[in-house]
Amino acid sequence: MRDLAVALDIGTRKICAIVAEVRPADIFIVGVGIEPSSGMKKGVVNDMGQLTAAISAAVHKAEKSSGFDIQRAFVSVAGSHIHGQNSRGAVGISEKRGVNLDDLDKAMEHARAIAIPHNREVLHVIPRSYSLDGQERVRSPLGMHGFRLEVEAHIITAASSSVANLEQSVQAAGVQVDQFILNPLASGEAVLTEQEREMGAVIIDIGGGTTDLAIFIEGVVWHAAVIAIGGDLLTSDITHWMHVPFDVAEAVKIHHGHAQQRAVDPLEKFLVEPFGDGLPIEVQRSQLAEIIELRVAELFEMVRKEIKRSGYEGLLRAGAVITGGSSQLPGLKEIAARELGCPVRLAKPEKLTGMADALRNPSYSTGVGLLRMGLQMEGMGSRVAAPNTASQPGKKLGQVIGGLFRRLLPDNTNG
Ligand SMILES: Nc1ncnc2c1ncn2[C@@H]1O[C@H](COP(=O)(O)OP(=O)(O)OP(=O)(O)O)[C@@H](O)[C@H]1O
Ligand SMILES: [Mg+2]
Repeated sequence: MRDLAVALDIGTRKICAIVAEVRPADIFIVGVGIEPSSGMKKGVVNDMGQLTAAISAAVHKAEKSSGFDIQRAFVSVAGSHIHGQNSRGAVGISEKRGVNLDDLDKAMEHARAIAIPHNREVLHVIPRSYSLDGQERVRSPLGMHGFRLEVEAHIITAASSSVANLEQSVQAAGVQVDQFILNPLASGEAVLTEQEREMGAVIIDIGGGTTDLAIFIEGVVWHAAVIAIGGDLLTSDITHWMHVPFDVAEAVKIHHGHAQQRAVDPLEKFLVEPFGDGLPIEVQRSQLAEIIELRVAELFEMVRKEIKRSGYEGLLRAGAVITGGSSQLPGLKEIAARELGCPVRLAKPEKLTGMADALRNPSYSTGVGLLRMGLQMEGMGSRVAAPNTASQPGKKLGQVIGGLFRRLLPDNTNG
């Protein structure tokens, strides 16, 4: 039996369902369904009926292209309701034996037991580092001797109502949520190299409604946040400036947009068809770039502040890696480097085989990362079934990201 997994990236702009076989060296795409999104605003649900219809359409396409019936999926979450905080948990080790997986679990449980307001829930608990009898920054305490094990963890919480609305919309489309996964963790998993994660890097996924970021240091996530601004705000800016409908402004952005005014020829002009049958308007491309540059700079200023707020700005030796649909805007990389003051790389999903053509685009980093992360969290298992097989609701929230830890362990202590 093949190990298959399903990812469902519910974006503000598009919904992407992917059925894949995850193999040691790559991800083999078995089926894909992509559909324009509807009923989402800034990463949260604002119309469940519309969203359910859009999810159903994407899922049906993925079912048709893969030939499998989708019952469960790893589902993305974003929105400015996401919040991360650090916590510590400790456990005493009474017997004279090495630290085992039970001890790690108990320490994590204690770290997780922080006071969380009743209207929020834990999305992820990520072990950052351990200390054993006061020896700090032990990466893998498994098998080591000591009396007191402490874990430093990053706890990511979400507004319960936002998560419930998303879950209900997915379920109404006939799919159970296998696991909710925060967008930037998934995108980071898809596009960051092992070396970047080790050296320290921030992944920035700029979509339509949100900009999601996560800081990876020493191989694991130390901080994550969602900023409720994405590329759609650039389109809105153009709408207001040119007095044209959103779809015209979107086409202008895609075909003529540039985020760095000084890279645009000041004499370059283009024509835009306005409302109705009015005469085409002539627009100076560098003026368009001026407007876009202001907004893009403002966005990266917010990203910079969030990185500063995390306290890890000095630790990002591999710089920033940018993905998401909006990363395709020409000049954006240069403005990012200027505002963030670090090296910047643009990235999209790699190492895909099978029906992967549509996914080799920065818009699909989250979807591809959901597959990788979901499988790390739960171990390999089939997420698709023949029609009429009963589905089994599983753990959805608050899963410890053991995979991020396990990956760092030598094989002989794994499990
Ligand atoms: N070639 C391009 N140049 C500039 N912007 C682009 C380009 N192609 C797509 N975009 C923008 O990318 C955005 C959509 O990106 P993406 O597909 O990653 O969003 P999403 O995942 O649906 O949204 P979110 O993650 O914010 O909920 C839109 O704002 C779109 O205008
Ligand atoms: Mg997205």
